[in-house]
Amino acid sequence: MPGMQHGGAVPPKTVIQPIEGQPLPMLKEVGTGANGELVAELRASPASAEIVRGMKTPILAYNGMSPGPCFVAREGDLVRITLVNAIPGQESTIHWHGMPVPAEQDGNPMNPVTSGERRTYEFRLPEGSAGSYWYHPHPHKFTAEQVYRGLAGAFIVKPRGEDPVPAAFGDTPLFFTDMRLASDATMPASTPVDLMNGRQGDFVLVNGAYKPELSLEAGTRRRFRLYNALNAGYLRISFGGIKFALIGSDGGLLEAPVADMTEVLLAPAERAEVLVPFDGSQRSVTVQSLTYDRGWMGPGAPSAAAVDLMTISVTGSAAASIPPLPSKLRAIADLGASTITKRFVFGETIKMGGPGGMSMTFLINGKVFEPGRIDETMKVGQPEIWEIVNPTDMDHPFHIHGTQFQVIDTEKSGTRVAAPFKAWKDTVNVASKETVRIKIVQDMPGDRMYHCHILEHEHLGMMGTLRAG
Ligand code: C2O
Ligand code: CU
Repeated sequence: MPGMQHGGAVPPKTVIQPIEGQPLPMLKEVGTGANGELVAELRASPASAEIVRGMKTPILAYNGMSPGPCFVAREGDLVRITLVNAIPGQESTIHWHGMPVPAEQDGNPMNPVTSGERRTYEFRLPEGSAGSYWYHPHPHKFTAEQVYRGLAGAFIVKPRGEDPVPAAFGDTPLFFTDMRLASDATMPASTPVDLMNGRQGDFVLVNGAYKPELSLEAGTRRRFRLYNALNAGYLRISFGGIKFALIGSDGGLLEAPVADMTEVLLAPAERAEVLVPFDGSQRSVTVQSLTYDRGWMGPGAPSAAAVDLMTISVTGSAAASIPPLPSKLRAIADLGASTITKRFVFGETIKMGGPGGMSMTFLINGKVFEPGRIDETMKVGQPEIWEIVNPTDMDHPFHIHGTQFQVIDTEKSGTRVAAPFKAWKDTVNVASKETVRIKIVQDMPGDRMYHCHILEHEHLGMMGTLRAG
């Protein structure tokens, strides 16, 4: 894909306010039937949402909803979901982000569903695949555009056996997206600065609502699944300073809770599971995204203050006692010895200035994405060590399809830090000037995408194809 040429660089600022303070919307759950099969249809089409009171914001939606339905299945279940592409003039797909599905069911750009067509995706969820996944379009040209305008949803896989996290803790997905609104409540077209940094909205929505409210009883410990489904925005989430436990990452539970956390950073596409205690000493807890510098380029940097995401009001008697944390969650296997290494180096060419112009490409190993070109190969079942190197001035979240990997360590300015605990990941942030080493194996043959999950960077070339065979 060639670089893009544009004039005019400053994104318009929002001047109107969304409705705030409504109860946190619960995602519409679609579960497995008694026969162990999850059968559903997802119709992707234009829709409208009332984000600003009395005004219509045109969006894209699945079955009229954004986020789309939240699928809930169990390990071993068969999934059969049909995409109906009713988006005028644009191809689409459904990519099952992070899920271990066969390559031809992966909804990647090689298998587009043209406007007006339908296609059924079918796969069985293997043993050990319990986790917090999501789904979104992944056609060649329109991924960033379609996701930003509303096409994304959660997909939760529960364990076949007993869940090590007590059911009394609940299980509440918080699915974060964002948008920018013009004064007529429409989402304005993207500017070159949007594309260079990735589209970042002015409002973060939680389950489709702006600054919603949730009410909880004092004395509860609550399980939340946090999804960063923003195109480009980073979320550094805190629960009003409350010390919480991190219990899960992209590909499911950790080995044991990591207690006494006060924040968790989620790059675009990353997920986390947390257990948050509410003892009633704080009556109103503001969930925030703290500031994080991801290396903004050009004008229009987002506000340097913390952003309020939602409010949790805590009712009932103060200093109520909190049920204990589970001590063990599950075992995480070692991926085995490996001597094979690969290196992936992010790059960008951005030329600013000139008479009102700018051009940019985003690269991996010096190349922009080209459909059909195989950039890397690996042997099915053979673990490898990958080094992902980011010499650029921006952070880039690295994502690979088809499998979950483990982070070995990160290195910056000559200091190497081992991953503090074992976790299954499908997306890892590679900060500016940082190198991240991962251990990875592909268990299924086929062609798989790897790319930056700032979707505009993927769009501008920061993607490659791996052939596992
Ligand atoms: Cu979430 Cu290649 O995608
Ligand atoms: Cu990037």
